[in-house]
Amino acid sequence: MMISDNIQRAADGTLHFAGQSVPALAQRYGTPLYLMDEDRIRRNIRLYTGMFQECFGEKALPLYASKAASFRQIYRIVAEEGMGVDTVSIGEIHTALSAGFPAEKIFFHGDGKTDADIQYAVSHRIGYFIVDNPEELEQLSREAAAQGIIQKILLRITPGIDPHTFKAVTTGTIDVKFGVPMETGQAFAFVQEALELPALKVCGLHCHIGSQVFDETVFEDSIDVMTGFMGQLYKDLGFAVEMLNIGGGFGVRYVDTDRRVDIPARIRSVAARLKERTEELGIPMPFFLMEPGRSIVADAGMTVYTVSSVKRIPGYKYYVVVDGGMTDNPRYCLYGAHYTVLHADRETPFYAVYDLAGRCCESGDIIQPTIKLPDDTRRGDRIAVCTTGAYNYSMASNYNRLGRPPVVRLSGGDSYIAVRRETPEDLTALDQ
Ligand code: LLP
Repeated sequence: MMISDNIQRAADGTLHFAGQSVPALAQRYGTPLYLMDEDRIRRNIRLYTGMFQECFGEKALPLYASKAASFRQIYRIVAEEGMGVDTVSIGEIHTALSAGFPAEKIFFHGDGKTDADIQYAVSHRIGYFIVDNPEELEQLSREAAAQGIIQKILLRITPGIDPHTFKAVTTGTIDVKFGVPMETGQAFAFVQEALELPALKVCGLHCHIGSQVFDETVFEDSIDVMTGFMGQLYKDLGFAVEMLNIGGGFGVRYVDTDRRVDIPARIRSVAARLKERTEELGIPMPFFLMEPGRSIVADAGMTVYTVSSVKRIPGYKYYVVVDGGMTDNPRYCLYGAHYTVLHADRETPFYAVYDLAGRCCESGDIIQPTIKLPDDTRRGDRIAVCTTGAYNYSMASNYNRLGRPPVVRLSGGDSYIAVRRETPEDLTALDQ
């Protein structure tokens, strides 16, 4: 069994992704190469839109957290599927708008929004700000008043929940840099202040506890905490929260030992808990939002490389060095993330253990350590790293002045360039 069911090994030993030959795609587009399976993206989105419809009817909207992978064609797909988007910068908002994404379905996040960011987003009439802190609240209020509009907002609250995932992607505990904590009483004061600002309409609350989350109950915990707070706001301020966004974070499988998250079952359970809690507390059922990123695009992606050298140091270590590296996939370097790595050209019963190394000038440039590949792996062979659709292209850099790989979209047996390869001229385009 392959790590994802859109990957197959053909009878001649070549790897196929989304029904297409990986060596043939590598031949056509060159390497390194990001592949994106559009049909899989749509299938993943429909898991959310279908369950949201079933559990909440019209009173819910899933948002795609576009930090996971942001380029025009993905916003087009997301718009066609009827999802909203979560954005975190002018760059993401501009990309979405330039793809024709409806402004009113754009939600703008971030803990460090500048005056210029706020000005840009208000003037482009994006739907909602998710306000992270009191300074942003005040600046946004000034800007909305200056532009003569009433800006809809959600307030980001830190619920104090530990999702037990990588530390760098944990966001819900009290001591993180995001949002305003409830436990210290600051969140209550934040809501009070926001309600007094005439150019802002406080629609509701937001929280996000972390990413790559497998824990079975933390989203329900988060509902408990947030509805408790909603009850307090209702009782003490007479404020009924109209919208509740509980963030993203469902984990995906990178390697065989990773568990599988049953997303429909998780959504059903969260919806049931929300209904139960709002009834108990006698507060209105809010419009429900979630903002998954990884679980929409991760398994729709694959990265393909060509081997440059195979370094065998007898008694020590074997390396397969490829034509990409931490520039197109920094996730092992940053988080020690795991990946499934496959030879794209052939299969053999004879394997050796290698570290898959990149071409950047530092020893830490490892894409994945301790992987099994054919013992005769050699220069010119193609290597595929699976499940790279989330946080790979979006976190790519130009370190060593390497151009970023193209993103090729696979759909219904055809392939299309979604983002072209960066050329040396692109790399000097900004230099004066
Ligand atoms: N909402 C908020 C407020 C977020 O901060 C994030 C992710 C999401 C939604 C989407 O979470 P997802 O469904 O994708 O787990 N670069 C890291 C992941 C950072 C996640 C940041 N926030 C990685 O490569 O694993």
